[in-house]
Amino acid sequence: MATVTFDAATRTFPQSERPAVDSLDLEIHDGEFVVVVGPSGCGKSTSLRMLAGLEPVTSGRVLIDGVDVTGRRPRDRDVAMVFQSYALYPSMTAGENMAFALKNLGFAAEEIRTRVAEAARILQLEDLLDRKPAKMSGGQRQRVAMGRAIVRDPKVFCMDEPLSNLDAKLRVSTRAEIAALQKRLGTTTVYVTHDQTEAMTMGDRVVVLRDGRVQQIGTPGELYESPVNTFVAGFIGSPSINLIDGVPVTDGRAVVAGSLEVPLPPGTQAGSVTVGIRPEGVDVAGTEPGGSGDRLIVRVERVERTGAELFALAAPVGLSDGAAQRGEHLVFRLDKRLDVQDGAELALRVHLAEVLMFDVEGAALG
Ligand SMILES: Nc1ncnc2c1ncn2[C@@H]1O[C@H](COP(=O)(O)OP(=O)(O)O)[C@@H](O)[C@H]1O
Ligand SMILES: [Mg+2]
Repeated sequence: MATVTFDAATRTFPQSERPAVDSLDLEIHDGEFVVVVGPSGCGKSTSLRMLAGLEPVTSGRVLIDGVDVTGRRPRDRDVAMVFQSYALYPSMTAGENMAFALKNLGFAAEEIRTRVAEAARILQLEDLLDRKPAKMSGGQRQRVAMGRAIVRDPKVFCMDEPLSNLDAKLRVSTRAEIAALQKRLGTTTVYVTHDQTEAMTMGDRVVVLRDGRVQQIGTPGELYESPVNTFVAGFIGSPSINLIDGVPVTDGRAVVAGSLEVPLPPGTQAGSVTVGIRPEGVDVAGTEPGGSGDRLIVRVERVERTGAELFALAAPVGLSDGAAQRGEHLVFRLDKRLDVQDGAELALRVHLAEVLMFDVEGAALG
């Protein structure tokens, strides 16, 4: 059990002008599950490797339980890492793979047996202990890699995209297992992924990184409902939020289209704003006239049905002058029972209280 602190931790690679991780500040509580998420190359692995001691820190500090470990070797940090590649030894059985690090650390044979047996029980690997990695499925290898970290009983787990090599269905079940296991063990965990769904479903808190810089740290709900900028708004949520740039501001309202006028937070400057509407932030309106400015008329370009859900890929009708949607379509999630065809015109009722607003630089308003 431990706290983890990144204190302005920065890593600049040799021959690189820009830091891969730029002044990362993060306080992780004892027993917390923190997910670091962001697009490829944003500095997730580098952040984790600084914590594990696998990457030198150019400036700033890393602390575990309040102790500065910045200059310590990996083995002296009591951190266990789970890699995307699993990095199992092919010539060793599952049991030997799990025991290996403990042997190196000089644990007694009896203690090693006890710990491996316990980890195998937790991970339901008991029947596989004598099997070598080549004869295991991806999911089984992933569990052995987890077991190798668990037997160490470390202060901190560091996991770098540990589910990336699993097929979609196994990823979903395994992410639930890992989250439950972490709660049971209570071990402070830093988990890295590019997958916002993993971040949202697993993390107590989520750190969104972009180009080596923290954009926002918050609970999944905070990131979804109150993103600090258009980057976070667009990254968190699937399908992505609909962003409409350059929406003119008149009389304290953002006029998206003739029939959709969104009230702005008090004090918003005249000019224009970016309006964000989540795919589920609308209902199909009845035929009665709107009147309250919450109607958006769209032309449905394509209907996508996944079985459980219906997504309408649509273009807004009558966008205000100067306004332009980002991306090719707006996407709305509608009742799957809706009878709608490509090319139809639809009146949508927008839940105005859920609409997000950003200034021209992309920072959240209000
Ligand atoms: N050993 C290295 N030498 C030089 N640049 C590196 C090295 N490792 C990573 N980088 C660069 O640092 C940035 C962050 O990399 P990384 O932390 O691996 O990103 P992520 O894990 O988010 O995909 C990228 O621009 C990457 O190209
Ligand atoms: Mg990485």
